[in-house]
Amino acid sequence: MCGIVGYLGKNEKKEILLDGLEELEYRGYDSAGIAIIENKQLKNFKAVGRLKNLREKTKDYLSEGFGVSIGHTRWATHGKPTELNAHPHMGAYSFVVHNGIIENYQALKKELQSQGVTFLSQTDTETIVHLFEKNHKINNNAWASFQETIEKLEGAYATLLITEADEETIYFAKNGSPMLIGFKEDEVYFASSDTPIIGKATEVYYLEDGEFGYARHGKVYLFDANGQKTFTKQALATDKALAQKDGYRFFMEKEIYEQSSVMHDTIIGRVLDEKIDFEELNPELFNNISNIKICACGTSYHSALASSYLFERLSKIPCQIEIASEFRYKEPLLHDDTLFITISQSGETADTLEALKMAKRAGLKSLSICNVDNSSIVRESDAAVLTRAGIEKGVASTKAFATQTMVLWMLAIYVAQVKKSISKETLEKELLAMRQTPKALLVNNKLHHKMTRLSKRYLHGHGFFFIGRDLFFPLALEGALKLKEISYLHAEGYPSGEMKHGPIALADAELFTIALMPKSLHYDKIKSNVEELCARDVTLLAISPEPFDLADDFVQTSYSSHPMLEFFEMMVITQLLALEISVRLGNDVDMPRNLAKSVTVE
Ligand code: G6P
Repeated sequence: MCGIVGYLGKNEKKEILLDGLEELEYRGYDSAGIAIIENKQLKNFKAVGRLKNLREKTKDYLSEGFGVSIGHTRWATHGKPTELNAHPHMGAYSFVVHNGIIENYQALKKELQSQGVTFLSQTDTETIVHLFEKNHKINNNAWASFQETIEKLEGAYATLLITEADEETIYFAKNGSPMLIGFKEDEVYFASSDTPIIGKATEVYYLEDGEFGYARHGKVYLFDANGQKTFTKQALATDKALAQKDGYRFFMEKEIYEQSSVMHDTIIGRVLDEKIDFEELNPELFNNISNIKICACGTSYHSALASSYLFERLSKIPCQIEIASEFRYKEPLLHDDTLFITISQSGETADTLEALKMAKRAGLKSLSICNVDNSSIVRESDAAVLTRAGIEKGVASTKAFATQTMVLWMLAIYVAQVKKSISKETLEKELLAMRQTPKALLVNNKLHHKMTRLSKRYLHGHGFFFIGRDLFFPLALEGALKLKEISYLHAEGYPSGEMKHGPIALADAELFTIALMPKSLHYDKIKSNVEELCARDVTLLAISPEPFDLADDFVQTSYSSHPMLEFFEMMVITQLLALEISVRLGNDVDMPRNLAKSVTVE
């Protein structure tokens, strides 16, 4: 995630930038920074933590003449949330802010270092500014240097650059990360979304991928691979509250829709052509490891449970999953051949943190999978992999779960590579499916509309059973948890083969059964289980690529080539079902009763 803003004009710049960043704080708040060129003077401020720290640091500074300025609020992906890693990143006479991930930054960095460039930060972003200045040293032309720089970048970026070499200009480029340009008379604004500029600019242009250019003297010059292009501005929305949710009704809804794009961030630079790579991991972490134990709570526990199938199937390593609050008091037997993995969206969940401390006291190596760098769990662990989901505001977790599951899937392959327990064919198949995942997560309007219509039939009854087998059992648990969290209806997740051992006694027409019936994993087995329930007259909503005659309601999915693609596609459907039921019941979708986003008490 991360948020960026820019302003070119005659008004006081510091407040414009800080106000803009405040609107973007939901995109990250590990650190923030601004850089301004005014009267040929470059000024730069950075502060770690929330934006208020930067406000405090800049309280005596005002920038009142004409000038150019850029700002950034960070969600750490490469490098810790320190002041050195905060944006804007500087060269000798230029500053850059960036949102996204430069996939080839290591190669670029190595090349620049071999030419004597010193890097101050651990970020991928810093390569942009050094590359720009290296080019500028050669051709002494800022615009040409910027274009040459952009040509070299691979990955996702929205970036702004200002330089003393051309002090009345802001250079910009967008590819894969959001950015727009706002206009008001001879002022020009840049931002990651429209909230920072609502009430300031009057017109807007939403940049397309592959576009770049510069703003100078109130004018914007826009280019793409085919050269300079014209563009049409549109009137800017005026409703800030709606804009904060990108036009969606709820943050949870926005986050469901965001899953496809954040998944790009999660896999970028990790799912490579022929292997999985985690630059933050040292393969030695897995030396002498013959077991994996994973501890987590809530939704994170469900992603852990799903991964246990993957670790055993793909990495051929025994894997046990524990609910953190149970693990703490069971007097577990721990051996140092076990890698202890914790999963936490927030990184602050008390039960998970304490479980981690216990494992460390027992001498186990530890790895955390987390969405928040520098959180307690990340700091406490020997190694960490970030999920890169960006901030999740809806209390009911959606994109955090999706990205956790993805990281665990990648990790299962990574361990399989280290242990050499995977064949070339399987590896290729997994990598291919991983690359298709962002597409499998796209929400189409027709599907959403169907879930809205279906939801009206599921507002009563004496309970819901979400059922599935194998990987789809944890997904059933998660589907049921989403529904109970925001609808307050009773829902349970169950392995479908286990229904006959008790729960089937509840079966009647008022028992709503949501059956996850993937084609690529044990289809015939789950079909028999579902038929047994239909014989007892349950009301059935079947989710499957394969039409199922006995279903009262049926949602047809499109993926059937790989279980994980089916998993993610079905996950979205269960999320939308929970959302729409909750809306019909008139509940607070984003802040359901009795729940908290981060539970830091036992
Ligand atoms: C709370 C939240 C859940 C979350 C759980 C674990 O109960 O409401 O959505 O799954 O904590 O949180 P963590 O931050 O450790 O993933």
